[in-house]
Amino acid sequence: MWYKEAFSDRPPSTPEKEYQEAMTNGASAAAAPMKAGLEDVVVSTTEICFIDGHKGRLVYRGYDVDDLVAHSNFEEVVFLLFHGRLPNRKELEANAKTLSSTANRKLPPKLIAMLRQLPRKTTPMEALRTGVSALSAFDPDAADNSHEATLRKSMRLTAQLPTLVAAWERIRRGKAPVAPNPKLSLAANFVYMMSGKKPTELAAKTFDVALILHADHEFNASTFAARVTAATLSDVHSAVVSGIGALKGPLHGGANEQVMLMAQKIKDPAKAEAWIRKAIADKMRIMGFGHRVYRVEDPRAKHLRRLALELGKQAGSTANLEILETVARVVSTEKHIFPNVDLFSGAAYASMGIPTDQFTPIFAMSRVAGWAAHVLEQHGNNRLIRPRGEYTGAIDLKYVPLANR
Ligand code: CMC
Repeated sequence: MWYKEAFSDRPPSTPEKEYQEAMTNGASAAAAPMKAGLEDVVVSTTEICFIDGHKGRLVYRGYDVDDLVAHSNFEEVVFLLFHGRLPNRKELEANAKTLSSTANRKLPPKLIAMLRQLPRKTTPMEALRTGVSALSAFDPDAADNSHEATLRKSMRLTAQLPTLVAAWERIRRGKAPVAPNPKLSLAANFVYMMSGKKPTELAAKTFDVALILHADHEFNASTFAARVTAATLSDVHSAVVSGIGALKGPLHGGANEQVMLMAQKIKDPAKAEAWIRKAIADKMRIMGFGHRVYRVEDPRAKHLRRLALELGKQAGSTANLEILETVARVVSTEKHIFPNVDLFSGAAYASMGIPTDQFTPIFAMSRVAGWAAHVLEQHGNNRLIRPRGEYTGAIDLKYVPLANR
């Protein structure tokens, strides 16, 4: 089997082996070895996404992400993730039409009114989390957890998230949201709704590639959170809200925002080397580097690096990218920790004038497709996900009445 070959160089102390040993020794399942952060623990089978962390390979439903970037588009990748195969022409057109229809992209006016009630300082990730939760209340299939209804809701969520992200950007700047344009692809329409102007071909292409690259990543923290929620037989909106909550943190999707804040702090490419050497000496955690699974550079980084360069040139400044390239050279050489997906994406978005705190919502706009695909898979063969904790606290304490404490 292909996955056995990919894992053939795994050290003998795999979670499975240790678990088997624990069971053979008469231990209960709860005594299986604890892995901090569930590192390398296999929690389920999946047919959606495969990562080879040693070779730096990412595969969606059997297709290498490099091939998808070269030949596909986000609408097709959504079909691939949801249905497990590439669409034929008719299916692709129908899928793109569903994702672009105004009925699916537009937000209920009451939801827009609700967004207007949020304080202006609400971060885009907070607004997105709140908005997705509220969308559930307006969804005609909210109470239906059948496969067909979950698929319809997943398509709607994928179509609605860009509108939600763009609407909050406009509202917090005191502007009216821009209505979605059904003639534009999901990527191009997002840029249009953010700025009110149709994007250049390069900007639309960049967004499309970024959406393909972020669409899924096996059992990453937010997908795991989404699957845990789905495994209680909760609905896809709730699972996506769980995913958004987990993605927000700086160790996960929030890292792309932190990378740009670092580049802004460094400011001048000529100062990047000294800055990063000091940061390493100070034992700082450098955002955009390292990964739980990849031991080499993240295969998505090279595409985003190239797009950041092209967009930087078009915008007349490649300073951010130059800073990040210097940081990457030093961190890779000194610490043997390599760029992940979050290192270069922000430099590309910044060249298009996208505010830094919108980088993580853009990640969510794409990952919603992965979360939803995992919800469909989880519901298709469900068992409650309920691990154990290894108790390290006190036991058998004698209760002391309040008056005696
Ligand atoms: N900067 C400095 N040191 C690091 C970094 C980093 N970015 N990443 C790992 N290390 C060091 C860490 O200090 C530790 O060293 P030591 O063993 O000497 O204490 C060792 O590498 C292992 O680190 P860890 O935190 O135990 O590794 P992990 O697998 O738990 O963490 C990670 C993975 C992604 C959270 C971590 O690499 C990190 O914090 N990176 C920065 C945040 C980031 O870029 N996150 C995005 C991840 S990829 C896309 C996504 O999920 O959104």
